[in-house]
Amino acid sequence: MSEMKLSRVLVLSGGLSHERDVSIRSGRRVAEALRSQGVEVSEVDSDSSLLPTLSALEPGSVIFPTLHGAAGEDGAIRDIFEMLELPYVGSTADACRRSFDKPVAKGIVESVGIRVPASRVLPHSTFRELGAQYLLPLIEKSVGLPLMVKPAKGGSALGASVVRSAAELPEAMISAFSYGSDVVIEPFIAGREIAVSVIEESDGTLTALPIVEIVADSGFYSYDARYTAGLTEFFVPANLDSILSARAADVAKKVHMGLGLRDLSRSDLIIDNNGEVWFLEVNVAPGMTETSLLPQSVAATGRDIGALYKELAERALLRKYSTSQ
Ligand SMILES: Nc1ncnc2c1ncn2[C@@H]1O[C@H](COP(=O)(O)OP(=O)(O)OP(=O)(O)O)[C@@H](O)[C@H]1O
Ligand SMILES: [Mg+2]
Repeated sequence: MSEMKLSRVLVLSGGLSHERDVSIRSGRRVAEALRSQGVEVSEVDSDSSLLPTLSALEPGSVIFPTLHGAAGEDGAIRDIFEMLELPYVGSTADACRRSFDKPVAKGIVESVGIRVPASRVLPHSTFRELGAQYLLPLIEKSVGLPLMVKPAKGGSALGASVVRSAAELPEAMISAFSYGSDVVIEPFIAGREIAVSVIEESDGTLTALPIVEIVADSGFYSYDARYTAGLTEFFVPANLDSILSARAADVAKKVHMGLGLRDLSRSDLIIDNNGEVWFLEVNVAPGMTETSLLPQSVAATGRDIGALYKELAERALLRKYSTSQ
């Protein structure tokens, strides 16, 4: 059965998350790259016509999800693929669930020996019950300034803010709560922000791709800094000495393994002024637009990104038609 040939890749993007637009751009790029390799591609949105479309897929079809944010990255859509027994590129539903939830992922990553900023996680209901006038000063005192506030489950830095003075804290909390019911509060780690993408090769080994250093004008890689031309500079490969590069690559691979991820991932890290590497979060469906970090890293290797996506799709098919998935 392992002779099954790749007949079509269904690139799934859009959906109803806050990152719908970015996802559509990611999907378009992945589709173009696959077509350049002679692969038949259909681009589909995640809406009420999706289940009938998936149910009618011919054998040899593989799904390539490029859905960002909730549903796309929290495991839900991959549970659907698994229920339909359809092959797909990327991590399993279970692995997505533990990765998308930032506090859960940090706990697991810390247990494999990686530094993570200590976080407090507060649901909106705690503010209502205990009163913001008492909680806010406690947060400021116990976490210290500057601090970072972000939704426990989110992406593209939506609802994330750096708080440098106590006066900025209430607005930061309101902004984070507008993207989810739980908010993470953690110390702001000063240093160099990097992204390390990891690709699983066909023999099962992990490759850490060239590191991207992100230098945002504001010192924080916000939503605007991501999607407004000229606000951020990227350096690929990052100008790091070999010891720091190796350390960061090792952290990203440990994150990938520790969370049980599959095929590809992108870890967002900070190297502090003492050369220590801190884990911020991991992306199971990293951005794939022309300016996204993983495609920049692939380009720096000289590897054809379409060929890489095709390889991942073929491997997903092989998983399905070999003994275990
Ligand atoms: N503890 C921290 N210290 C310093 N900067 C931070 C910290 N946490 C987050 N940031 C900044 O906020 C940005 C967004 O945070 P993070 O990557 O955790 O969330 P995200 O919204 O899920 O991002 P993505 O779109 O990459 O999935 C980071 O790129 C970084 O610039
Ligand atoms: Mg991030």
